[in-house]
Amino acid sequence: MIDFTDKLFLAPMAGVSDPVYRQICREMGADIVLTEMVSATGLHYGSEKTADLARVSPADRPCGVQLFGADPDEMGRAVAEIQERFSPDFIDLNAGCPVKKVVSKNGGAALLQQEKLFSSIIRAMVRESSVPVTVKIRSGWTKDALVDCLFGTVAEDAGAALVTLHPRTRSMGYSGRADWSRIARLKETVSIPVVGNGDITTPEEARQMYEETGCDSLMLARGTYGAPWIFSQIRSFLEKGTYTPVSIGQRLDMAKYHYTLYEEQYGPRRTLKDMRKHLAWYIKGIPGATRGRDAIFRALTRSEIFASIDSLYP
Ligand SMILES: Cc1cc2nc3c(=O)[nH]c(=O)nc-3n(C[C@H](O)[C@H](O)[C@H](O)COP(=O)(O)O)c2cc1C
Repeated sequence: MIDFTDKLFLAPMAGVSDPVYRQICREMGADIVLTEMVSATGLHYGSEKTADLARVSPADRPCGVQLFGADPDEMGRAVAEIQERFSPDFIDLNAGCPVKKVVSKNGGAALLQQEKLFSSIIRAMVRESSVPVTVKIRSGWTKDALVDCLFGTVAEDAGAALVTLHPRTRSMGYSGRADWSRIARLKETVSIPVVGNGDITTPEEARQMYEETGCDSLMLARGTYGAPWIFSQIRSFLEKGTYTPVSIGQRLDMAKYHYTLYEEQYGPRRTLKDMRKHLAWYIKGIPGATRGRDAIFRALTRSEIFASIDSLYP
């Protein structure tokens, strides 16, 4: 059984937290990682593209597979299939995704409007699972209907082993600030571990999240963009009160390392396309970044990409 306390989690991120990203974040200090969200309906229809998202290699552990869906039976079957095929260390329910395509089918954050369905889904998942089932929620659908403490309690009663809260509402999307006081309230309400998530972008903010909320662990998503070392910096800051800044050279080295690992996994064509956003994040804010970004987006080969990166070393 995994210990979920005092851990730094890499958040599930569709289109970002692929196996290569997870490997890099783990090498840079992430304790626990999650896959991108995986559609239970996609698994039901036998989509291998969907199943691929749930693949967890032996080196990629501890890793949770995150599922989204809205039908308890289908979610139970998805848990059984994923366990049999990929043996993840835990399975997470997505009850926070704000995207229309997901909520229009009753999944993601739409579950925060349906207490009974939410509970039935977790119970069905727990029934089929021999590993912990965890739940990731937002604070509610709108600011007039904050349900995080209620749904945290429902999740605990249904057998969830942990609850992660991203304290924005569905209607906020990613705008405004995450209201960390909701995490503090949830922590006072439930007995299972609470993971605090939302707007952690520096080691100082990580410590502040612990201090303000009393949460058990932290989860980072956008704060890892082009900065996977944030995990080890946070660990260092929490333990020693200091951390080492990363130089421009180290950032560019990491960009090339990431590109190389991705290319080994997915081949040159896909890498050229998929890595653009990561490279833009790695070079953001360094002198010449605008010119470098344009060159990266125009580049047609790995050597052109690497030449653009090399031109940015001080
Ligand atoms: C590109 C992107 C993809 C995301 N995909 C997922 C997902 O698949 N499942 C999920 O539960 N949350 C997803 N999220 C939400 C994050 O996990 C996290 O809750 C949110 O970004 C707040 O954390 P942050 O402030 O550290 O970014 C995604 C966020 C982003 C930016």
